[in-house]
Amino acid sequence: MATLITILIGFFAAFNLSILSVFSYEPAPLQDFCVADPSNQGSVRVNGMACKNPLFVQADDFYYSGLHIPGDTGNSYGYRVSPVTVYQIPGLNTLGLSMMRIDYAQWGSNPPHTHPRATEIFTVLEGTLQVGFITSDPLNRLVTKVLQRGDVFVFPVGLVHFQRNMGHSNATAIAALSSQNPGVISITNSIFGSTPPIETEVLAQAFGVDNKTVHLLKKKFIHV
Ligand SMILES: *[C@@H]1O[C@H](CO)[C@@H](O)[C@H](O)[C@H]1NC(C)=O
Ligand SMILES: *[C@@H]1O[C@H](CO)[C@@H](O)[C@H](O)[C@H]1NC(C)=O
Repeated sequence: MATLITILIGFFAAFNLSILSVFSYEPAPLQDFCVADPSNQGSVRVNGMACKNPLFVQADDFYYSGLHIPGDTGNSYGYRVSPVTVYQIPGLNTLGLSMMRIDYAQWGSNPPHTHPRATEIFTVLEGTLQVGFITSDPLNRLVTKVLQRGDVFVFPVGLVHFQRNMGHSNATAIAALSSQNPGVISITNSIFGSTPPIETEVLAQAFGVDNKTVHLLKKKFIHV
């Protein structure tokens, strides 16, 4: 990887392509930290962010307050994610982890989704949650369990997973993810809510349903 980056840098230098930003990646940090500096758009970026001058780094660059506040679950799914990623804590840049609080109303659910860049380790602080992930093709096996307060579960990187409150009470969970910016692909939003929309015939064929059913689903998820 490092060799490839060296070659690329050499290539840019040889052709005087100095205006191009070089995006590079090393599995382990080569410095104490690289606190993201969103105001600095011009210099070399590490994991997508420019580094703040280490002399100006403060404790607050590694700090966030607010996970004691329950998220508003007043939506049709009955859940809310409160993320703490590199966008909330700039000091997480290059460090490869982040955190989330998830609140669930009674019978609320975090619908099927994947984190393209992170494995997730998840613990229940309050309530009873069914959790599950689905293995990849061809087995597509559902691995599922009901968790109580204090139980811990892992969602492997990239796999589609979900959580559902079993309805006894509100529920709260905390998750740690192995990326500063894990990303989220919501299955329904990406398939039925893309902009511009995927052609109806493609989805009708994929799901083995008629156009009318696809139109109905698109109407639920399209957000313009
Ligand atoms: C569940 O959470 C909602 C929203 O925060 C709140 O209004 C409600 O009182 C809670 N219910 C219980 C049983 O704690
Ligand atoms: C489904 O819609 C497409 C246009 O979006 C059309 O070409 C096709 O004939 C339709 N199929 C049926 C069975 O109505």
